[in-house]
Amino acid sequence: MRVDDARAIAGLATLESVWRDARRQSTARLIDAVRRGETLTITGFVAMFLLVVAAAILSTLIFVLARNVRRSVARLAEELAARARVERSEKLLAEVVEQSPATILITDTGGIIRYVNRRFEQASGWPREDVIGQTPKFLESGDTPRDDYKEIWRLLRNGDRWQGLFRNLRRDGSSFWVDTVILPLRGTDGVIHSYVGVGEDITDRREARDQVARAQKLEAVGLLAGGIAHDFNNILTTIIGSAHLAAEEAATGSEQAQDIAQISIAARRAKALVRQLLGFARRETSKSEPIKLYGAIGEAADLLRAAIAPTILIETPDDAPICVLADQTHLHQILINLGTNAAEAIGERPGSIRFSVDRPTDPPADLPDRPDGWVQLCVDDDGPGIPEVERQRVFDAFYTTKPLGKGSGLGLAVVQGLVQDMGGLVRIGTSPEGGARFCVLLPAAAAGSGQRAVPDAGVVPHGHGRLLLVDDRTEIAATFRRVLERLGYRVDAFTAPEIALKAFREKPDRVDLVISDVVMPGMSGTELVTEMRKLRPDLPVVLWTGFKRAALDLPGPAPAVLSKPVDPLDLARAVHEALLPAKQS
Ligand SMILES: Nc1ncnc2c1ncn2[C@@H]1O[C@H](COP(=O)(O)OP(=O)(O)OP(=O)(O)O)[C@@H](O)[C@H]1O
Ligand SMILES: [Mg+2]
Repeated sequence: MRVDDARAIAGLATLESVWRDARRQSTARLIDAVRRGETLTITGFVAMFLLVVAAAILSTLIFVLARNVRRSVARLAEELAARARVERSEKLLAEVVEQSPATILITDTGGIIRYVNRRFEQASGWPREDVIGQTPKFLESGDTPRDDYKEIWRLLRNGDRWQGLFRNLRRDGSSFWVDTVILPLRGTDGVIHSYVGVGEDITDRREARDQVARAQKLEAVGLLAGGIAHDFNNILTTIIGSAHLAAEEAATGSEQAQDIAQISIAARRAKALVRQLLGFARRETSKSEPIKLYGAIGEAADLLRAAIAPTILIETPDDAPICVLADQTHLHQILINLGTNAAEAIGERPGSIRFSVDRPTDPPADLPDRPDGWVQLCVDDDGPGIPEVERQRVFDAFYTTKPLGKGSGLGLAVVQGLVQDMGGLVRIGTSPEGGARFCVLLPAAAAGSGQRAVPDAGVVPHGHGRLLLVDDRTEIAATFRRVLERLGYRVDAFTAPEIALKAFREKPDRVDLVISDVVMPGMSGTELVTEMRKLRPDLPVVLWTGFKRAALDLPGPAPAVLSKPVDPLDLARAVHEALLPAKQS
């Protein structure tokens, strides 16, 4: 077949151009695609890069954040621990302050109390609620002068501290001693914001010291009493002896006889007082025996009537057979001390003192049960009485409200000491008239067993014989020579033992009995008697001494020993008795 070439060629050309176009287009498309693919890849890469960068940043951020959070948590924990530590130490400090054995009081700069600790509450008796917001003025006892307070404030305001002693008042009105330091407290800025007072309660220590001082004072009194007792007893011996002589001269019942009786009673009281003072200071043992209480009261009342203002009436109870177990001198001392106090309380104006006795059916529980029970002796007066707060203090030794030289403050201390020695007790109260009432509970003794408080003066035994009397005190030797001569004896009195011994040696058989003082200069009574007994081994002897009786070392029969001041009656009896066996043999 013949194909039209032209048309074919034309068709081919068309085809070629179409193909070329298509190829061009496809190439372009390809190139475009390639181009687009590149862009895409780049975009992808960029995107991926960005993503990686973002991830890196994010992880860095997360890391940093995590680290910061960790640090913050650690810091927070540290801070919490520190705060807990501070709180613990603050609590500890607060406990130390609160439970401190020292009293602590904190005020602001205006002196207003902001804090007191427990010890302060205990020492002062004030609860903190009552004192916070107050100034410490309520503690002032008045002992510290105003100027001292001014000085304290001046020092504190200057930033200095003050140290010293305060006697502070307790809530109950009693007082306590505090050794105190007061200092300013400054804040971190250096400004004073409070004052703190730290005190040590030294009341017990001061009381112990006072007690020692009192004991020393008593010891001094004891020494003094011991020192003067000997001389005093010698003087009293003469007074009692002379009064005895004078009484014999005086007409019975005369005014003179009464005056002499008073001298005698007063001298015996002085004798008892000396013994009492010695006993009080040295706590000498007493001799308890049944004593008729009414007799003792009567005797004390007689003595008081003579000594006090006549405007004061002394009432004594009607006699009843009640006996107490007591030392005679001590019982007398109790009655006289209570009676004298009552009279002194009444003073110059009219008044009355009443002694009364009863047998309490229910004695205080702190007294032991006794088969014979207890006796209560009361002394009431219509004086001013004793305020409640002073009732314990009146028993303190040397406590007195009387002017210097009037009261020694020993009276009630002696009464209490003596009553306690007897096992009893003393009570203070108010009398029906509003004055003071002192009651002592004493151990009772079986009725009918009691002795008379004062020996019967009527039975002075007389005798005869030759006596040798030796005492270095001329007045004693002279007085008692006369006393003994009045009793019927012949007496050779000497003041020097050596001369007495010489006289004795000349005619040893002439002497029936020797009376001698024990302590004498040159030669003692025991030495003298020892020498005499070398010649007369059975020579009867009576010794007297102004000192505490010690065991006397003598050959032969034991002598009678009398204490100075010598009572003429005791001497008469002793001489009488000592001569009896000699007469019999
Ligand atoms: N009956 C009383 N009425 C009022 N006060 C009394 C009475 N008895 C004692 N007092 C008070 O007790 C104080 C102490 O008495 P106390 O007998 O111990 O000593 P004093 O009488 O002062 O001295 P002293 O007795 O040693 O001479 C007295 O100073 C007085 O204040
Ligand atoms: Mg007194």
